[in-house]
Amino acid sequence: MGRKLVFAVNGQRFQLASVDPSTTLLEFLRTQTKFRGPKLGCGEGGCGACVVLLSRYDPDSDQVKESSVSSCLTLLCSINFCSVTTTEGLGNSKDGFHSIHQRFAGFHASQCGFCTPGMCMSLFSALTNADKTSRPEPPSGFSKITTFEAEKAIAGNLCRCTGYRPIADACKSFAADVDMEDLGLNTFWKKGEEDANIDRLPQYKQGEICTFPEFLKSEMKCSMDMKENSKDASFLGCRWYQPSTIEELYKHLNSTEFNESRVKLVVGNTASGVYRENSLYDKYVDLKGIPELSVIKRENDGILFGAAVTISTAIEELKEKGRKMHPNERLVFSKIADHMDKVASPFVRNMASLGGNLIMAQRNQFASDIATILLAAGSTVCLQMASKRLTLSLEEFLEKPPCDVRTILVSIFIPSWSPAIEESSEANIASVSGPTSGYDVLFETYRAAPRPLGNAVSYLNCAFLARASVDKNSGYPILLNLILAFGAYGGEHAIRAREVENLLMGKVLTASVLLEASNLLRKTIRPKEDTSHSSYRSSLAVGFLFKFLQPLAKDLTMPEKNFHVVASDVAQITEYPNRNNNGCTDILASDSEQLDNRDSILSSKQFVEFSNDYNPVGEPIKKTAVEIQASGEAIYVDDIPAPEDCLYGAFVYSTRPLAHIKGVKVNSTPLSQKALTYIGANDIPKGGENVGSFSIFGTEPLFGDPLTECAGQAVGVVIAETQKYAYMAAKQADVEYSTENLEPPILSVEDAVKRSSFFEIPPYLRPQIVGDLSNGMAEADHKILSAELKFSSQYYFYMETQTALAIPDEDNCITVYSSNQSPPIIQITIAKCLGIPHHNVRVITRRVGGGFGGKGLRSVPVATACALAAFRLGCPVRMYVDRKTDMVMAGGRHPMKINYSVGFKSDGKITGLHLDILVNAGMSMDVSGIIPNNMVSAIKKYNWGALSFDIKLCRTNVSTKSAMRGPGEVQGAFVAEAIIEHVASFLSMDANSVRKKNLHTYDSLVLFYKDSAGDVSEYTLLPIIDELTSAASYFKRLETICHFNSCNKWRKRGISWAPTIYQVLQRPTPGKVSILNDGSISVEVGGIELGQGLWTKVKQVAAFALGELWDDGSQNLLNRVRVIQADTLSLIQGGMTAGSTTSESSCEAVRLSCNILVDRLKSLKESLDKQMGSVSWDNLILQASLQSVNLSANTYWIPGDDSRSYLNYGAAISEVEVDVLTGAITILRTDLIYDCGQSLNPAVDLGQIEGAFVQGIGFFVNEEYVINDDGMVVSDGTWTYKIPTVDTIPRQFNVKVLNSGHNKKRVLSSKASGEPPLLLAASVHTAISEAIKAVRMEFSSATGTDNSTSFFQLEVPATMPVVKEFCGLDNVEKYLAHLVSTQVEA
Ligand SMILES: Cc1cc2nc3c(=O)[nH]c(=O)nc-3n(C[C@H](O)[C@H](O)[C@H](O)COP(=O)(O)OP(=O)(O)OC[C@H]3O[C@@H](n4cnc5c(N)ncnc54)[C@H](O)[C@@H]3O)c2cc1C
Ligand code: FES
Ligand code: FES
Repeated sequence: MGRKLVFAVNGQRFQLASVDPSTTLLEFLRTQTKFRGPKLGCGEGGCGACVVLLSRYDPDSDQVKESSVSSCLTLLCSINFCSVTTTEGLGNSKDGFHSIHQRFAGFHASQCGFCTPGMCMSLFSALTNADKTSRPEPPSGFSKITTFEAEKAIAGNLCRCTGYRPIADACKSFAADVDMEDLGLNTFWKKGEEDANIDRLPQYKQGEICTFPEFLKSEMKCSMDMKENSKDASFLGCRWYQPSTIEELYKHLNSTEFNESRVKLVVGNTASGVYRENSLYDKYVDLKGIPELSVIKRENDGILFGAAVTISTAIEELKEKGRKMHPNERLVFSKIADHMDKVASPFVRNMASLGGNLIMAQRNQFASDIATILLAAGSTVCLQMASKRLTLSLEEFLEKPPCDVRTILVSIFIPSWSPAIEESSEANIASVSGPTSGYDVLFETYRAAPRPLGNAVSYLNCAFLARASVDKNSGYPILLNLILAFGAYGGEHAIRAREVENLLMGKVLTASVLLEASNLLRKTIRPKEDTSHSSYRSSLAVGFLFKFLQPLAKDLTMPEKNFHVVASDVAQITEYPNRNNNGCTDILASDSEQLDNRDSILSSKQFVEFSNDYNPVGEPIKKTAVEIQASGEAIYVDDIPAPEDCLYGAFVYSTRPLAHIKGVKVNSTPLSQKALTYIGANDIPKGGENVGSFSIFGTEPLFGDPLTECAGQAVGVVIAETQKYAYMAAKQADVEYSTENLEPPILSVEDAVKRSSFFEIPPYLRPQIVGDLSNGMAEADHKILSAELKFSSQYYFYMETQTALAIPDEDNCITVYSSNQSPPIIQITIAKCLGIPHHNVRVITRRVGGGFGGKGLRSVPVATACALAAFRLGCPVRMYVDRKTDMVMAGGRHPMKINYSVGFKSDGKITGLHLDILVNAGMSMDVSGIIPNNMVSAIKKYNWGALSFDIKLCRTNVSTKSAMRGPGEVQGAFVAEAIIEHVASFLSMDANSVRKKNLHTYDSLVLFYKDSAGDVSEYTLLPIIDELTSAASYFKRLETICHFNSCNKWRKRGISWAPTIYQVLQRPTPGKVSILNDGSISVEVGGIELGQGLWTKVKQVAAFALGELWDDGSQNLLNRVRVIQADTLSLIQGGMTAGSTTSESSCEAVRLSCNILVDRLKSLKESLDKQMGSVSWDNLILQASLQSVNLSANTYWIPGDDSRSYLNYGAAISEVEVDVLTGAITILRTDLIYDCGQSLNPAVDLGQIEGAFVQGIGFFVNEEYVINDDGMVVSDGTWTYKIPTVDTIPRQFNVKVLNSGHNKKRVLSSKASGEPPLLLAASVHTAISEAIKAVRMEFSSATGTDNSTSFFQLEVPATMPVVKEFCGLDNVEKYLAHLVSTQVEA
């Protein structure tokens, strides 16, 4: 009979007699327990939102092993007798928070908070494991973790809000080797004023959390005794099998029961993050119960790993420091371990097995790193095929036809390469004739991936093993044996480049030999058709081979002639820094040095100026509710417990850009029994409309039925009994299309122009031209005509995807909990769709897990579909859109095409600019009407002399584009920089001096921005730039960079700055303040808390305004204020939280409401003061209620004409380094100054500035948004869409929040901070252009081909392949060819 599944969560025992074996740990935690801390961010192992600590107990050693795991991939059945700790298990609001929670709060390391529980658990796991090491005990309050490890602990976790710097600081605060003074702004000490020391931090105590309860240990021991007597290997109704021997496994596999079944073998189940499962398996077989598969054996000639050994365990073993190893063995094993350390993330590696990885590489052509590095190390594998056991070289294994489910990978053997075994391993490496003594091994591995520390598969990986000797005649090294392995480049599997190996062996490595090898390698590394960036991948292969061989080569760089290769020196060869003629260090040869910048600890400085004018406004207090965000107690929409009878919905979307929908069939598989019904356009009630969203510009249909107008448009919703079944059923649904009588779809702006397919731009939103273009052009000495620029889209990547819960109520009413930025729009849309009055619809929004504009209008169809389903079915319906669907449907930033003509003087002063702008708005208008004005407003940051434009909003058959943080402005800011660069290039001038020449004077500012320009004293951009250039030592660094570039051929640096002028608009906003009988204060505002700190600022303002009754601030009103959730029936006219100004307008509405209350209470207070000497707040309120004073007040704040619009200023300088061989960039340093007026809360504003800047880096550098021929996005998950991570942000990040003082026209003198700083990330892009210029200069002189001065327009985003392409895909070959030709001439 089946056994039961027993485990603990946060010390609580769970026992399950039956469970669907496809259930993940995350699904169970979130739906069957009260622990909602772990969140679903991707379901792919790619974001870390779901991370928990999994502890296993070994009764033999009495040891507990803890590791972080992604609970979204971990199958529940595989945690029998394990203990799970979630962030709730560390601490909570009732029993006290853990120091991790408190430090995250105090370092301002959580904004929307959706990533925070996962971050906390990744850190907790790292602390727990560091504390178990034998390192010396740290001082009290610290862990044994190092700062480097602390920073790396969160390398696999994504955060879209903070920009990571404060999170890294919170993590590093636990490390004993941290310099506390280096930690960033926090609430524990006042930087620069108070001593930073550990006593000020919430104390961390090693081992204070019990991760494995005693009861489970005893139960486990007891059960093991019983199990010994039982041969029953299955449990949970025989769908989950856990054989304990290979024989038992085959008994099952060969049984009739298994014959017709869909069987899944699992170890870590992480493959389900790679290949999403859209159907159910009948039987699951867990291989971890077979001891032979988990064995690790050190043998004389190498190490053997059972196939189920996890990557993390393998790393530990390979790095094992205590063991005596031959230097060859240590080199090979440690390099393999270092490489494995970059596979996925810690929480994936802790579950992922070596065997699972190799099977995926063999069977599914997975772009494995492990296959490549083990191939180069000459590894073998042992396979079990029914009763046959087979040992194959890894190469033979990979070349076999794909293994079937009955082939088991048993073990993997890696030879040690110590001299004793070399002869016997000869078969694994190609050999040449020659001397056979005095060899030693060279081994190196490489990977080119978007993220240096992992969590990204590589474009190409490779590993090389060689034995070298000195050629007696020439005195140069020659290679006697060589293995060159390449993988992940888009071939079927990792391969050895045998022809290249043969070519290189036994030869002195001259330039001509290397050139020949490079040419041959390019022909060998041929990605399959349809592989993205295929020439880039081939060029990487050449680059890495060159990098490996260059230190051994003859006459490539001086003074290699002095090389003297002896066996003991081999390791040094790889790390020998090349010295070129002028004695500078060229870092090409040293991979470890190359990683220097990336691996070094992040450093940062924050300069924050406080203002006490409106205390407690202006204080950098921590964000409201931040501790409960960290402890997992904060409730997001999907955390609201499901009401009884709740059903779940998932969208079926169109995959065609323009088609009639003929029908939708939910497939008749076993899954269809779980999928209950389908809701489509026909289900819209009489009197309702097929409307899914609206704005002042028009409406958009809820369902693209009967006509779908873009791929990714919702067609209907499948309803099922769980969210997982709904996802699966929706993915399996068959949509029947017809294109009869339809024109071809419009998929590009060019098509739209041809077919005149445009949206009308309302006249009041059309931007105004400035000056007279023909005069401007006439004044010009030079002209550039019709240059072109293009942008693709950017996805919001809020960590919480779109979600809603709809609950039908009596009398045709409905309540909808929705994660959104615009509750009133949802209310109105639902009412229209259902044909009911607005007051029947209550939309409630408390907390949003990130919005960035994507939860403005794009959340409306989700809430509306959910409401329609609930209304139709008469029961609650919940929808939590899966990441892929969200990415496909959400739209994002507007793609654009721009043509510009610019006239300018010889000194760089621009006299006239004309732009033709085509904006791809997608299938519906959404808020695209604002784009032209926004864009032109950002372009106007320079004085163009005269400015004119023609802007068209193209209506196309791609997903609707909406407002994303800095909508239109970010593109506009970049267009301005691109034009400046073009002019500079034309004139052969430094781009930064052209920038400076074209900055506005106050007079030109007024001409371009009219009423928004404010007074001359408000124009702070010029002083900001002066301060920034001096604080960042710009000119000195420019010199240093020139010197660096002259010394380094294969790494180049660039520095650049960018200014921003950003116009914002205040909108009318309501606010309501109520004082309850006990003196507590409840506040409602029109704005939504998205993580931007709106509630925190509102609280501060309420305390300040009510504090007018107590000038001395004695009543501590701040702690009495609670901002409550938005409710469309309680506070109306809330509007949309957007445009950066909702915080301040909400604050102003609250301030005015408070003023009403102060007026009502003032005279009462005065009379009570007279009677009683002085009166407390509590007493005042009590008396006021007794005297029937109205203690609730609301306002609808309408900004005055003179304060409706103002300009924001900031500037940033960024320095980057480009790796010429791979196109990888490292942002070495960014300095940024941003004018926040008198900040309402400098900590909150600093968070907005840093977070926006890093999101901007994503747009300019990282996030490649790829669409297919039907216009549907194919970068549809964490695998293909790479937002910045902690290892891709500036290594040094210095930010100043400038206090530009009092201004009565603005809300308590404050300025906006949410969007403008994003635009400053253009400085990173322009710095990359500078570095590329240096590359092109170098290689044009090195290769005699002059393209140094020719203008290039670096694309956005400047991803690795793009940067490499601009550096030159063939610069290694060109360089070698040049050397060959000059040597021949010589
Ligand atoms: C987010 C993420 C990022 C990743 N990044 C990288 C990366 O950069 N580089 C890289 O190389 N890999 C990467 N991987 C892949 C990862 O290494 C593999 O998913 C993992 O090693 C598979 O091991 P598993 O135990 O989880 O296998 P499972 O998911 O349990 O199984 C995988 C497949 O292998 C079969 N299988 C497993 N073990 C055996 C066996 N012993 N015999 C026969 N069949 C077996 C299973 O039936 C299944 O088909 C990443 C994975 C994730 C989720
Ligand atoms: S939800 Fe598990 S890693 Fe993203
Ligand atoms: S705080 Fe990290 S995603 Fe919002």
